[in-house]
Amino acid sequence: MKSLTITQPDDWHLHLRDGAALADVLPHTARTFARAIIMPNLKPPVTTVALASAYRQRILDAMDAAMRAGKLATGTRFEPLMTLYLTDNTSADEIAKARDSGFVHAVKYYPAGATTNSDAGVSSLERAFPALEAMEKHDLPLLIHGEVTDPRTDLFDRERLFVESQLQTIVSRFPGLRVVAEHITTREAAQFVEQARPGVAATITVHHLLYNRGAIFQGGIRPHFYCLPVLKREEHRLALVAAATSGSPKFFLGTDSAPHPRDLKEHACGCAGVFSAPAALELYAEVFDYEGKIYFLEGFSSHHGADFYRLPRNTAKVTLVKEAWTLPAEFSFGGGTVVPLRAGEQVGWRMA
Ligand code: NCD
Ligand code: ZN
Repeated sequence: MKSLTITQPDDWHLHLRDGAALADVLPHTARTFARAIIMPNLKPPVTTVALASAYRQRILDAMDAAMRAGKLATGTRFEPLMTLYLTDNTSADEIAKARDSGFVHAVKYYPAGATTNSDAGVSSLERAFPALEAMEKHDLPLLIHGEVTDPRTDLFDRERLFVESQLQTIVSRFPGLRVVAEHITTREAAQFVEQARPGVAATITVHHLLYNRGAIFQGGIRPHFYCLPVLKREEHRLALVAAATSGSPKFFLGTDSAPHPRDLKEHACGCAGVFSAPAALELYAEVFDYEGKIYFLEGFSSHHGADFYRLPRNTAKVTLVKEAWTLPAEFSFGGGTVVPLRAGEQVGWRMA
């Protein structure tokens, strides 16, 4: 197949950042995706409906500015689907307000210390129970960064241990709660979601489908492949590819595109995050095509997530063409630059 027309996709896990960086990264996503679930790990984190409303307005303003500046086609529509950042103190009242707002679509659970700007996250699962109960009652999905944070646990085991202990507990203790295991990276997480009750789903990033942990060390240390959860062994990558390309509605597209300035990635203590937005859908197409499952791309990218979130599927279409192009080595990012996934290398599919 040389060309593929599908329903316009959505990105169900995205870091847009804020300020000047927001203006630079937003067009990379909005050129392709109609909507995105916007991660709340700003400094300070988006912990209230009021903060989410203000952040949403900054995103919409950045959309207008990008169109005026010619960085996006006039008339481009992009809807930011906001999330709240769960803390030990998130009240049942704030959850009810979030549900009533109409623009907050989920609540993000970061175990404190698990990743970038997660210090204000949940310090122990039990502390989150009142908020989770309110989310179950108000039918607001819980999005989980599923890694244990005990510094004695091996970095590569943290997701598996979280699945065995905490994810299992959450899913069974709150049987009506919709739960997304975000950016899953292991066979164990994929199996758990596959076998879990209805209302449990997972997002899968394109970098975890394309690369295993060897990429971080290919000929030397490669900081642009460092993200959290960290890339895993090949057997896990294969399990993720099987899940994503299975056609199961439990798995959907979430890039976890997480830009950081080049100098903070190429650093003695480099930040975690892969910036995949500039070629995200094109790279997912590579994966599905390579597997001979390109006909399952549309469900994964454009149907399953909308259905899970109980939002209408998009009506616009996008066309992908199987033609190689070379991605720039870097892009502007808040006064500095950011290096994308596949920087300076070929991508096998392009947007028509
Ligand atoms: C994310 C970021 O930089 O905000 N980093 C990452 O490696 N994925 C945080 C996150 O989603 O864990
Ligand atoms: Zn993320």
